[in-house]
Amino acid sequence: MSLAMPIEMGWSMSDREFRELRRIIHACSGIVIGPEKHSMIRARLQKRMQALGFSAMSQYLDLLNGPSGRAERNRFISSLTTNFTSFFREAHHFDLLTETILPSITDDSDGIHIWSAGCSSGQEPYSIAMTILDARPELAAKVKILATDIDATIIDKAKQGIFRPGELSGVGTGCLSRHFTPVAGQTDEHMLRISRRVSRLVTFQQLNLVSEWSLTQHFHVIFCRNVAIYFDQSAQDRLWRKLSLHLRPGGWLLIGHSERVPVIQHDYLQPSGLTAYRKPD
Ligand SMILES: C[S@@+](CC[C@H](N)C(=O)[O-])C[C@H]1O[C@@H](n2cnc3c(N)ncnc32)[C@H](O)[C@@H]1O
Repeated sequence: MSLAMPIEMGWSMSDREFRELRRIIHACSGIVIGPEKHSMIRARLQKRMQALGFSAMSQYLDLLNGPSGRAERNRFISSLTTNFTSFFREAHHFDLLTETILPSITDDSDGIHIWSAGCSSGQEPYSIAMTILDARPELAAKVKILATDIDATIIDKAKQGIFRPGELSGVGTGCLSRHFTPVAGQTDEHMLRISRRVSRLVTFQQLNLVSEWSLTQHFHVIFCRNVAIYFDQSAQDRLWRKLSLHLRPGGWLLIGHSERVPVIQHDYLQPSGLTAYRKPD
């Protein structure tokens, strides 16, 4: 067989099995998968089915629902999450951070606490750190950025802080030379590593936004962008409420371009610019 030929998927997925997979992902992560995504889900699970040597979806469902299903559910979630992200995505939030938010919190002796919730492979928290280092380097010692995601595999990648040239499209040349260094020993692709000066501001942690959080911090700013879009309305509403409870008075919540905090929640999250909300003082 030629290596170029597509790998044969030797298993099928019935509608009932697909419904059960959608139920499990929703229960574990809040993510809603539409009924039209049958072939996409099948394609995403192909590698895992192959690695496990399974020939029927029923075997995989037994594993997920069985006594040792917990570890597999992490891998399952990782296969189905959409991790698309980029450096300085939705750039107006980084302008807001330097021009409005940072000047208003510099007197806080307790440090500057920022949360990137649903941080994917790290571009978002590293962009926050680079923005602060470039605009207000004197604040660096006070800044603590917590970066969390449900997907343990993507958190591991984020911690490594190594990026291919194609992943660096939003980064200007000045920023590249200030904050990245070539990875030693790389010959074929010019991989770059985020500098220690940037990464030391960021702490990564696995956290599921739809479960209980063991967080005690209250944040000056929460970036929770392009995550709630995958949840149903009631999960989104609960998330906005919980995030507001983890903001300091006057703190900011920044969300994705196609997300909105509904009017009924504006008492505790007041609209304050494009996809930006503030907890009242
Ligand atoms: C499309 S990425 C957005 C990344 C980044 N915030 C941005 O805007 O570029 C969505 C991320 O949300 C994460 N995610 C999905 N459901 C989650 C949950 N229940 N708890 C925490 N993170 C979740 C996914 O793993 C994924 O990395």
